[in-house]
Amino acid sequence: MLKIVDHALVQENLTKIRDKNIDRVHFRSGIIEIGRLFAYEFTNTLDKKSVSVQTPLGIAEGIKIKDMENIVVVSVLRAAIPLVEGISKVFKDAEYGVIGAWRSEEPPFKAKMEYIKLPDLENKIVIVADPMLATGGTMNSILDEIKRRDNPKRLVVFNIISAEPGIEKIFENHPEVEIYTCSVDEKLNKEGYIIPGLGDVGDICFGRPCL
Ligand code: URA
Repeated sequence: MLKIVDHALVQENLTKIRDKNIDRVHFRSGIIEIGRLFAYEFTNTLDKKSVSVQTPLGIAEGIKIKDMENIVVVSVLRAAIPLVEGISKVFKDAEYGVIGAWRSEEPPFKAKMEYIKLPDLENKIVIVADPMLATGGTMNSILDEIKRRDNPKRLVVFNIISAEPGIEKIFENHPEVEIYTCSVDEKLNKEGYIIPGLGDVGDICFGRPCL
């Protein structure tokens, strides 16, 4: 399932963070806001039950979102840090995991994973946050690793921008995955960046690393 999150606030934030002249502070805060809005949108898909509440003056009917405490958010380091900051504003009771993953700089963009710290994912709603779904190689390895460990109730991916090759790869290998994204962009360049995209998320958020 591919869900384009087309809420006007999400799309306005996406437009702002695509601007090549944006500064680091506004770039990060745009991503934080998109994370918060993604989580807000996703909450509508969770199971609810009816409850009643005693007000000072009577009894009112209301709801409880059943799975709110059954969520695990996985942050793909380092680019997902601000996205997960936004998500955590909504999923306050969730558990959090981290995966340090990156891809080689040249084709075939082989994915590498090193630091993996995940809570128990069995029967949980697992949301993997990574701002860009380009070739899909890294995300595919992460989803393999999650399924090798446990059997989540739902497996969800939050990407700000996606490209067709990445989407195809994920659905080919993990057809049950739900992808939430703001935009499916045109293509990848030969370095594996999404075009028009927004550049290198990690570098814009945190600076270019030196080895
Ligand atoms: N990662 C990024 O940060 N940007 C892209 O365009 C693709 C992967």
